[in-house]
Amino acid sequence: MTNTKIIKLASMISLDTESQLKVREIRNEENVRKWMYTDHVIGVNEHLAWINWLKQDDKQIVFVVLSEECIPMGVVSVNAIDRLHKKADWAYYLTENARGGLGSSLEYNFINFVFDTLGMDKLNCEVIEGNDAVVKLHKKFLFQEEGFRCSNILKNGVRIGVHFLELTKDDWLAGKANIQEKYRGVFEKFSVSIQWQPSEEKVSHPIDQIEAARARNNLNWMSILRLAIEKSPGTAKPIVAEIKRIDREISALTDKITGENV
Ligand SMILES: CC(C)(COP(=O)(O)OP(=O)(O)OC[C@H]1O[C@@H](n2cnc3c(N)ncnc32)[C@H](O)[C@@H]1OP(=O)(O)O)[C@@H](O)C(=O)NCCC(=O)NCCS
Repeated sequence: MTNTKIIKLASMISLDTESQLKVREIRNEENVRKWMYTDHVIGVNEHLAWINWLKQDDKQIVFVVLSEECIPMGVVSVNAIDRLHKKADWAYYLTENARGGLGSSLEYNFINFVFDTLGMDKLNCEVIEGNDAVVKLHKKFLFQEEGFRCSNILKNGVRIGVHFLELTKDDWLAGKANIQEKYRGVFEKFSVSIQWQPSEEKVSHPIDQIEAARARNNLNWMSILRLAIEKSPGTAKPIVAEIKRIDREISALTDKITGENV
């Protein structure tokens, strides 16, 4: 194989923060977000909060598509993992300049991963009305359209429909050799490996553990605050005002570090 591009899929939560933030830029590209259920520009905080959520969500795995140089190029995710009924949903996107064959190679490898490694029997996906190229693309990989749900979501103030596509493991096993043959030329351009070990997913860094513990304790602090405001507002409010004043003091000191408003 000549000029084969090495492509790695690594779980989002295993990446460093810089790479995680690079994914936000891709997700915010016009030609990506217009095909997503939520298409607003995602802020840093929202993005990091989502990644934080992923750490404890065992119903989804979000992979980042990495070049040989470990530059993020897109995302492939499996969601709504249902171990009882052995089914899941999936979706993916790529930055504009990484497209052209890579999508097909990822689709082939990811379907194999979902059936062989994750042990699912059925894979579903949803494609927003108007994204005909992607419906066509999925059908090439043996997905069948189960239905089209009209006026199902709200986008830019307009109600639009959603295509529901599905693929069973049996259909995949029966047809994948043909697909491999048909796309041989495309698949030879990319060598895709998916880095995933179930046990690794659960080991979190001490910083993540502190973050999670703080989030839990924040609930307790807010309960104390709520109690104080309800039971003794006259005493509690001046203390809250003092907290706010000191917060402003901290904010001014932080400005000195970042160079803002100096
Ligand atoms: C879906 C996506 C990952 C596919 O990646 P890709 O690298 O473009 O895929 P390929 O180059 O292998 O394309 C496969 C086929 O789909 C066609 N295709 C894919 N996206 C297309 C588009 N936006 N417009 C026209 N054709 C498109 C290609 O022309 C190709 O057709 P062919 O096999 O007849 O030549 C990528 O287009 C993307 O990120 N799209 C935006 C996000 C999105 O819609 N995700 C799907 C939500 S489920």
